[in-house]
Amino acid sequence: MKKFNKITIIGTGLIGGSLGLVIKKKKLARQVFGIAKHERTIEEAIKLGAIDKGSLKLKDVRESELIIICTPVGEVVQTLQKIIPFLRAGSLITDVGSTKKKITQEIERILPREIHFVGGHPLAGSEKRGVRAARRDLFANSLTFLIKSKKTDIAALKKVKQLWEEVGSRVKIISAAQHDKIVAEISHLPHIAAVSLVNCVSEKYLKYAAKGWKDSTRIALSDALLRRDICIDNKEEISRVLKGFIEHLIIMRDLIQKGDSQGITKEFKKARQKKLKKERIVIAIDGPAGAGKSVVSQKLAAKLGFYYLDTGAMYRAITLKAIKEGIDLRDKARLIKMCQETEIDFRFKKAKKPVLLLDGKDVEKEIRKEEITNKVFYLAKLPEIRKRMVILQRKISEGKDIVAEGRDIGSVVFPQAKKFYLDASIEERTKRRYKQLLTQSGALQGEELSLEKIEQNIKIRDKKDSERKVAPLKRVKDAIYIDTTEMSIQEVVKRILECLTTN
Ligand code: DC
Repeated sequence: MKKFNKITIIGTGLIGGSLGLVIKKKKLARQVFGIAKHERTIEEAIKLGAIDKGSLKLKDVRESELIIICTPVGEVVQTLQKIIPFLRAGSLITDVGSTKKKITQEIERILPREIHFVGGHPLAGSEKRGVRAARRDLFANSLTFLIKSKKTDIAALKKVKQLWEEVGSRVKIISAAQHDKIVAEISHLPHIAAVSLVNCVSEKYLKYAAKGWKDSTRIALSDALLRRDICIDNKEEISRVLKGFIEHLIIMRDLIQKGDSQGITKEFKKARQKKLKKERIVIAIDGPAGAGKSVVSQKLAAKLGFYYLDTGAMYRAITLKAIKEGIDLRDKARLIKMCQETEIDFRFKKAKKPVLLLDGKDVEKEIRKEEITNKVFYLAKLPEIRKRMVILQRKISEGKDIVAEGRDIGSVVFPQAKKFYLDASIEERTKRRYKQLLTQSGALQGEELSLEKIEQNIKIRDKKDSERKVAPLKRVKDAIYIDTTEMSIQEVVKRILECLTTN
């Protein structure tokens, strides 16, 4: 992505501050400028590394190539109106407001033709507020809606989409009306329901409230004024979903009043099934070569009915392509170009090992050869290649419950996953690799491999995987560590399943 010259973030709170942190970390702009209402916010944002410089004056948006309005939703249009006189032709404005129809209509009415606006809404955040709650990984693995209307400039939309993808979010482009309909159901209604849950409980009983109550009312802590503005902006859609909600509450009340045990069970079961089906679970299995990741991940995925994603196979596949195309493995520029032009996907079949497709072709056998194993590092160490692989891995996994194995799954690809780190002694890993090579047809290509040689190869790979600058293999703090040296595959799978049910 081409670097922006100056990005200005108006409103350096939780969302604005988090954007600043990741934009600066990823060096996506020469300067990240912040505008806030209070001097203290600017000072804090600079101290935390969310912005380079800041100001209290909107006129300081001057010279910005991109302006991200991160104010409360009720102030987006006014803010935009105020900055227009200071913008030059070609400037690009986006926002992060939680409603889109009214904002888009109003902005498109007042915006000069030479300035572009692309409405946005990252589905990320928390009930916490302010720049102090900002996090660099707030958008990792999140979804951001971008709005396309008849007036949207396609080049501008593309730029904003790229920015969100760079900061770690997936992007879905929809109309403002669709957006407001969706968020009324999945965000605005739950907030109102949480408020009702809290407000209708007798104060005197609150001291007995336990985890269930806390879990279901956490979002009642969100900012009242922000929520008010959302209710006012998205009045029609919220009224529609509230009507459905109230009707359902009445159904529940009637079933309970009648003592209809079948009907009550049916409703609870229906909700449970619906929620289990929709709630996506990602299990990350990282660890060094030979720790048992592949077989454990496959068995675990089969047991849970999840998809299995072998990210190592992807790095192997691009290595195979580079060798086949005769690319010098030290020629970074050619490797990167080749990778950008490569399509990797998997053919998933229920209860079967997925087949990797390199530019549409099944290369499963070829990528397991020892030659590939020993050359992967040339490509796996390049940041540009890793970036593309991570995008592909997230895309392939979209909407799926998945067990993903690799080296950087928990640390980079899916930081929100349930994480495991499998390990084993070097002797045990060597033995496992030896057995694997013997059973894998063609893997050795006539090569004689001794245990010593295999051990040496594994040690070299361990060193390369854990010492590379980008996304090295490491044990992240919240990963559950399992030493598999003395354990059978079944035992490891069982341990993981136990951890999943107790955590
Ligand atoms: O898991 P594997 O042995 O098939 O992986 C092959 C190589 O790919 C491994 O040596 C390191 C690299 N790899 C990586 O860098 N990141 C991943 N997520 C997976 C594998």
